[in-house]
Amino acid sequence: MSSSEIITANNLTKIYGKITAVDGISFSIRKGECYGFLGPNGAGKTTTIKMLHCFSPLTGGELEVDGMNVRSEQSNIKKIMGVVPQEENLDPDLRVFKNLTVYARYFDIPKKEALERAAELLDFLQLKDRMNSQIRELSGGMKRRLLIARSLINNPKILILDEPTTGLDPQARHLIWQRLRLLKKNGITMILTTHYMEEASQLCDRVAIMDRGKILLEGEPKKLVADEIGTEVVEIRLEDENHNMILEQLGKFKFTYEKAGDTLYIFSNNGKELLPSIVDMKHTHLLHRSATMEDLFLKLTGRGLRE
Ligand SMILES: Nc1ncnc2c1ncn2[C@@H]1O[C@H](COP(=O)(O)OP(=O)(O)OP(=O)(O)O)[C@@H](O)[C@H]1O
Ligand SMILES: [Mg+2]
Repeated sequence: MSSSEIITANNLTKIYGKITAVDGISFSIRKGECYGFLGPNGAGKTTTIKMLHCFSPLTGGELEVDGMNVRSEQSNIKKIMGVVPQEENLDPDLRVFKNLTVYARYFDIPKKEALERAAELLDFLQLKDRMNSQIRELSGGMKRRLLIARSLINNPKILILDEPTTGLDPQARHLIWQRLRLLKKNGITMILTTHYMEEASQLCDRVAIMDRGKILLEGEPKKLVADEIGTEVVEIRLEDENHNMILEQLGKFKFTYEKAGDTLYIFSNNGKELLPSIVDMKHTHLLHRSATMEDLFLKLTGRGLRE
């Protein structure tokens, strides 16, 4: 492990009965970066993350967190980690503030400090006025913010977030993004999973795209898109769904394409030069836009449904 790396995984494997959920993956995460795991349902993201925070034992491979081996130093690893799980697991018998202070006991945080920290964190996640609410009275977005507050109670060096904004409205999502960026500025290392490609682009320095337990591709979001897709995309839907004529007309240009149902996606580094040949056709939808992580994700993992 070099001094800039805080997590290294080699040949990490998890097998549940007949299912290989994580299939011998290797990666390393640098201090202070935000690293994202992307992948369709069932890709193995949560399983990978559960091994990182010592919730699920490894079937095979090696995993080191901040110089500690996950097989032998679980309790020390847990001390430096904050975890926001995919499934909400707040204590329904405790009110909001109490959820934080009781959680602080697991880390032996002195009472006075725990009270101060809980108040600060509720403020940070805009939940101060709900401190005496019951958990059942909170909206989905409030519960998620409370989970994030709880994950920070021990001032963790590494923060793990399994789908931090799934199902939240844009307001809640943007607030969470702002807060996560602030935490990152203060030096925390962040590992997250998400199905929102914009979230990955907004937050992650590097991402790993997983499918069927393996990492297909890893790198900086912008660079991955530029290398694998190009810079621009033209989307076309035609009334008669006959895309062949367009492809013939565009024959002289350099591009790749994909047909998906009623839509033709044209990937190119100069979409503008293609447009004059297209505008005259009887289209129902024509969009010239920048290439995104979503284009890359679909290219790598396909359009078929999972599970
Ligand atoms: N406790 C378990 N017992 C048996 N199989 C499991 C268990 N947990 C996960 N799996 C299986 O392992 C595979 C990976 O699941 P995992 O939850 O890691 O996927 P994921 O990438 O997090 O998916 P999602 O995006 O839906 O959250 C799936 O096939 C899942 O059914
Ligand atoms: Mg998951």
